[in-house]
Amino acid sequence: MSGSGAEVAFLARALKAPRVAALAASLAERAREEGWDYEHYLVQVLGEEVASRESHGGAARVKAARFPQVKTLDDFDFSFQRSVKRQAISHLAQLDFLREATNVIFLGPPGTGKTHLSIALGVQAARRGYRVAFATAQGWVLRLAAAKRAGRLEEELERLGRIPLLICDEVGYIPFDPEAAALFFALISSRYERSSMIVSSNKSFSAWAEIFGDPVAVAALVDRLVHHAEVMVLKGESYRLKGKGKEVMGSESP
Ligand SMILES: Nc1ncnc2c1ncn2[C@@H]1O[C@H](COP(=O)(O)OP(=O)(O)OP(=O)(O)O)[C@@H](O)[C@H]1O
Ligand SMILES: [Mg+2]
Repeated sequence: MSGSGAEVAFLARALKAPRVAALAASLAERAREEGWDYEHYLVQVLGEEVASRESHGGAARVKAARFPQVKTLDDFDFSFQRSVKRQAISHLAQLDFLREATNVIFLGPPGTGKTHLSIALGVQAARRGYRVAFATAQGWVLRLAAAKRAGRLEEELERLGRIPLLICDEVGYIPFDPEAAALFFALISSRYERSSMIVSSNKSFSAWAEIFGDPVAVAALVDRLVHHAEVMVLKGESYRLKGKGKEVMGSESP
């Protein structure tokens, strides 16, 4: 290593910039060969450092979000799910809704891609630098119930409020008792106009009263959730049953 190479390595360590240390010399070689100007060289070196930091932070945030699986928009077959436009989802993936603290809601029957799309948007947000937390509606309620028992419900809501994106999957699969409904309401209203949620449900809003058992509270909840929200209604067959319709559903069994 030349004298200046050793100096670059020392300075990069002092800056905690390992990619600069690793690549400064080889990029300098390319710069000489290809006649880069100073600015271009600096951009290449710093760009490598930034890209590596972003991807590391992104992976950590994806892990911290506790997605049940990692799904992306590239894995989503828009020709199978035609009730949602690729363009609309790509627009959501620009994440303006996070900057505006608004919500995204996916409604639709089983297997139509609600969880997939929620995760894919969450993964995108995590990779772009936003903290994300994923759980089912049941999961959130259990977590808040534990906080309440420990006398720190407000603290927990406050802490969750600092996470820019909360994903709440599977609203409606399990009905809520009155305490669960109250906790869910507290979660939604604590985030209203402050931080975003992605919520998905297999039931239309008109059927939510049954899940929560209290039509008045549900009206207030849906009002807050939907006030600033993009509501996506998914239709069609379950992707899980794709290509197995007859055998699985037994519609044409003798
Ligand atoms: N259009 C699609 N393209 C590719 N994979 C899909 C598509 N729709 C669904 N899938 C896959 O099918 C499975 C079921 O989808 P998903 O979990 O998103 O359904 P859901 O709407 O959340 O259903 P449920 O209400 O039962 O939770 C997942 O493995 C998902 O990745
Ligand atoms: Mg689902």
